[in-house]
Amino acid sequence: MKKDFISILDVNEQELGQLLTEAHELKRQKMAGTTHLLLCGKTLAMIFEKSSTRTHISFEVGMNELGGHALFLNARDMQIRRGEEIRDTARAASRYVSGMMIRAYKHSTIEEYAKYATIPVINGLSDMEHPCQLLADIMTMQEHFGSTQDLKVAWVGDGNNVCNSLILSTVLTGLDVTVATPEGYEPAGEFVARARALGGRVTLVREPEAAVKDAEVIVTDTWISMGDEEEKGERTKIFRNYTVDGPLMKHASPDARVLHCLPAHRGEEISDEVMEGGQSLVWDEAENRLHAQKALLVRLLKR
Ligand code: CP
Ligand code: NVA
Repeated sequence: MKKDFISILDVNEQELGQLLTEAHELKRQKMAGTTHLLLCGKTLAMIFEKSSTRTHISFEVGMNELGGHALFLNARDMQIRRGEEIRDTARAASRYVSGMMIRAYKHSTIEEYAKYATIPVINGLSDMEHPCQLLADIMTMQEHFGSTQDLKVAWVGDGNNVCNSLILSTVLTGLDVTVATPEGYEPAGEFVARARALGGRVTLVREPEAAVKDAEVIVTDTWISMGDEEEKGERTKIFRNYTVDGPLMKHASPDARVLHCLPAHRGEEISDEVMEGGQSLVWDEAENRLHAQKALLVRLLKR
């Protein structure tokens, strides 16, 4: 595997398969009460520029369950806020810890850390991608459907970071993804072009009903990502017809399941009825962040 995990395409199909096989096994072991102290003595530094619940908890608990330690670092409390350069922070941290997980506003910030760090760097969400989320989402689809090959997935809402990673993941998974967004909120063109060039199946449409038609998985996310807060009023109006609710679900396959990376905003991108209903897999999806990331940490840090 590559040193870093910054994009979902930093793993190839075979590596993703091995990683998720390991994730399912770690989950099975945890359920059976078996310990797996595979990273004893290793420390993961976690740098957060933005809020987090799941990413923070799952990485910290994951390192703990592997016998290692996770160090929470709020970027606001680091010398970086007072002007220390990323390249200096990255090289100093590399002398202390075995890996870094970074949640940043700019994707280029994480790339800069990776360039200068001599240890693995993991993207814990940037403005462009959320690859750890996709590990959990693919794992959840595997659990529920057995295989992701030819699975029909609809994305409804903002063409954001999670959507970009879903699009790239088509290259590795055989997922057939249709994305419905309002005009001007499509996923980044470079991601769609890259996925298609590598054989991924990605279709862009305008109407949620068109994306959801016969879909087996419906995925959505907030209309207002971290960093977009100033556009809240405008976005709330533009996205008002992009709610995953009961009427929209009627267009999907009757056995369709719903994913949402969380945090959710009931009454906006998803209705309470769908969040709490029998088609929702969101809690398994949230749990699988832990197992998938543990497998990733073992692969990257156990060198
Ligand atoms: N899905 C996800 O990354 O959640 P947090 O923002 O709570 O980490
Ligand atoms: N798209 C959301 C994901 C949060 C986990 C954001 O960037 O805020």
